[in-house]
Amino acid sequence: MDLHLTGKCALITGSTSGIGKQTAKLLAAEGASVIIHGRRKPEADRIVQEIVSAGGRAFAAIGELASDDQVAEVVKTATAAFGGIDILVNNAGAFPMKPWLQTTASDWTDLYNSNVGSVVRLVTLIAPAMVERKWGRIIMIGSYLGSMPGSPAANYATTKTAMIAQAVSLARELGGTGVTANTVSPGPIRTPGMEGLAKKMAAAQGQEYDFEAFEHAYVERTRLPAGKIGAPADIANAVAFLSSPLADFITGANLRVDGGMVPTIN
Ligand SMILES: NC(=O)c1ccc[n+]([C@@H]2O[C@H](COP(=O)([O-])OP(=O)(O)OC[C@H]3O[C@@H](n4cnc5c(N)ncnc54)[C@H](OP(=O)(O)O)[C@@H]3O)[C@@H](O)[C@H]2O)c1
Repeated sequence: MDLHLTGKCALITGSTSGIGKQTAKLLAAEGASVIIHGRRKPEADRIVQEIVSAGGRAFAAIGELASDDQVAEVVKTATAAFGGIDILVNNAGAFPMKPWLQTTASDWTDLYNSNVGSVVRLVTLIAPAMVERKWGRIIMIGSYLGSMPGSPAANYATTKTAMIAQAVSLARELGGTGVTANTVSPGPIRTPGMEGLAKKMAAAQGQEYDFEAFEHAYVERTRLPAGKIGAPADIANAVAFLSSPLADFITGANLRVDGGMVPTIN
């Protein structure tokens, strides 16, 4: 299927790792120019090189998304690189795991500023030019926890619920402009971020981390219908489709790519 992404430019936040990195590589392979973003410049530069060596177009923009000034710099660099941003994938996110009763009010507001405030900063700077050009894509990377909150990451789950709501309200706000706003909500995906958490959990129980054993126990415990933990490509494929002009009629949606984790009709 031709996704008609040639000539489009995509900024994928948090593309120095995991889901974001795979999404950037796929969009580049589909013909889009991509902005690799993160806080680690050497890693961003390495991924840019990898994409360029494979015949793609990529540029790095570095910055902390909890900061107004750094986001403004990221947007300036990203916009200048290829003459505008057509697709914004709000993927960067932190996912600390703390029990509810040990999570302070500052933990809640700091994470909200980082995971939700970052979306506000980016969208308010980037969407006006999309509206002017009468075409654009804004895609949030949510989480199954956004519609199925659990106790060990309550503040994280709440930021993901907020992102789903941001996409719905943005879809209304941008109605009729040619700019769509949607969420892709992953289930468990094997990424450096997820494995970092799993390693910590294993260490806390005095165990060696082993992915296959972790996956088996996870699938058993959650009765995950897919029977396996997902791969970054599972999410990247959904993002690529929503990024395409073929998805013009999809806006305000929350597409669950979660292996069946959320046991509801939507
Ligand atoms: N993996 C899963 O199982 C899973 C499940 C559901 C939802 N998700 C969501 O999917 C997204 C990606 O997850 P992942 O597992 O691929 O994560 P990951 O491997 O930990 O990578 C996170 C990326 O986000 C960047 N980042 C994080 N906080 C940032 C900040 N404040 N400012 C700038 N950059 C920041 C990191 O950049 P640097 O490292 O360069 O600083 C990195 O590129 C997240 O929003 C996560 O909540 C993941």
